Amino acid sequence: MRLQLHTAADTHEFGRRLAAVLRAGDLVILTGPLGAGKTALTQGVGAGLGVEGRITSPTFVIARSHRAGAAGVPLVHVDAYRLETLDELDDLDLDTDVDAAVTVVEWGAGLAERLAESHLEIAIERRADETREAVLHGRGGDWAERLASLLGDEPSVGPDARVGAAA
Ligand SMILES: Nc1ncnc2c1ncn2[C@@H]1O[C@H](COP(=O)(O)OP(=O)(O)OP(=O)(O)O)[C@@H](O)[C@H]1O
Ligand SMILES: [Mg+2]
Repeated sequence: MRLQLHTAADTHEFGRRLAAVLRAGDLVILTGPLGAGKTALTQGVGAGLGVEGRITSPTFVIARSHRAGAAGVPLVHVDAYRLETLDELDDLDLDTDVDAAVTVVEWGAGLAERLAESHLEIAIERRADETREAVLHGRGGDWAERLASLLGDEPSVGPDARVGAAA
């Protein structure tokens, strides 16, 4: 599935809408070049979940946990850019958190998949005109149904069931 993200606000709003279909134990892996909008998307997810704390590009911190807000689900935000091996990811002790949290990993392709049996991959492509395109691939689990509901084309429930921003 492909989504056109014309502005930074679109990226944020997509994150908010995505949060509405996320739940504890989910793993979201973000890929895309430098400055693609991975952190901006994570900020939208954080806003949708209503988690505490400001979501930033972790410069010195590889992983940051954000306490649950209204939605009751915390967010673990990982920047795996500087990680080269699985051992380093182990050192972060992430396994203790992932069952109860939504985990979003920037640059996690090839490293983070084993953290959860199923996961959602989002590749953000940066266009020459500076707009972005998000390509979504649900791996395993019920991601296909959830993405269909997110994008509003679930035939059995109709357009009124289209998922908006999380409460
Ligand atoms: N759809 C969009 N159209 C135009 N600009 C966007 C879009 N989405 C995000 N941006 C902008 O792109 C810039 C980089 O975003 P961000 O820091 O989230 O990227 P990143 O992928 O996390 O970068 P890094 O690789 O350094 O972690 C920000 O200024 C953000 O506002
Ligand atoms: Mg970033």
